[in-house]
Amino acid sequence: MIQVKDKIYYLGFRDWELRTFHGHELSTFNGSSYNSYLIKDEKTVLVDTVWSPHAEDFMRILDNEVDISKIDYIVVNHAEPDHSGTLPRILERNPDITVICSVKGKDILRKTYHKDWNFRTVKTGDTISIGQYELMFVEMTMIHWPESMMTFVKGPNVLLSNDAFGQHYSGESIFADECDECKVWAEAFKYFAAILAPFTILIRKKIDEVIKLNLPIEMIAPSHGVIWRKEPLRIIEKYALWADDYNDGSVTIVYDTMYNATKKMADAIAAGLVSKGVICRLYNTSVADMSDVITELFRSRGIIVGSCTVNNGTLRSITAILDEIRARKFKNKIGGAFGSFGWSGESPKIIFEELEKAGLKMIGEPISVQYQPEPQELEACVQYGKDFADHLK
Ligand code: FEO
Repeated sequence: MIQVKDKIYYLGFRDWELRTFHGHELSTFNGSSYNSYLIKDEKTVLVDTVWSPHAEDFMRILDNEVDISKIDYIVVNHAEPDHSGTLPRILERNPDITVICSVKGKDILRKTYHKDWNFRTVKTGDTISIGQYELMFVEMTMIHWPESMMTFVKGPNVLLSNDAFGQHYSGESIFADECDECKVWAEAFKYFAAILAPFTILIRKKIDEVIKLNLPIEMIAPSHGVIWRKEPLRIIEKYALWADDYNDGSVTIVYDTMYNATKKMADAIAAGLVSKGVICRLYNTSVADMSDVITELFRSRGIIVGSCTVNNGTLRSITAILDEIRARKFKNKIGGAFGSFGWSGESPKIIFEELEKAGLKMIGEPISVQYQPEPQELEACVQYGKDFADHLK
């Protein structure tokens, strides 16, 4: 148990080994943590718990550091199992604890754990006095689940933000300012791009709402990763920026290839972009980490996708990335499509149509090359890169 601020303690479980999250959907090369917080005021309040595979360790921490029979409230900011997973073990030991959550949170907890605990539901602006301090709740509907919320501890002015402002990062300290902040910011960006990007419209509205609440935030303590203790508003400012149809002007080319014809086209397009001074990166999606690719697509102004044609379609890693692009509802991005083929040649047209359906403004026509590209065909790809660069501004 580590002191965060007066009467507020960190009780999290840091998982240094974790390499995937949400099943195997998201890569977590720097591990993660499940942060729980204890507030020892006149009432004893636990805010969030940890995922069930770590329940044994978490119960040991609670037994050593906290008397479970003395816990009055558990605030469930988010019912997803990575934060609610130890609730059944704790409430089995002390069924008198009041479980504080949103109305939708109560529904989800009931459907997940099939228990009728002692629930107390709250909504935005509701407060509960716990002694010297007061808890105030802010619903975070669909960021990223329907029941998510944050808890602001009035007094020490700590925002317990759950998923929001978090990172999958197991750090050498629980405080961002005592860690390698480059890694922390990179993981915070990846977290936003990979998990929160589909909800940017809601995030923009929520940030405005939180600003209007005029909370004197002195610290932001999420439920993954490290605590923003020094200049905590920096992460809110970044969220406002990232949620505002963000891009950094760069281009990401993603491709998959069988005999390198499509790869040669990708390299030629990149050469055209680079010759115009564009920051450009390339990923072969069959060997690249999907979460990292999604993160780079999120930061890009331009997305160019290529695949050779197989069985009248695209290679499977490109089918998957097109679906990821669709799901992220990107705004303010431009796109391009290319690929080689042997006889039928559907792939570039499929890519073009899928990117267009995903909301990208498509530049030029799909580029096709039969079998291996000839020098003039590669030159046409270079020229496409140059033309694409002109549309970035
Ligand atoms: Fe960290 Fe949405 O759970």
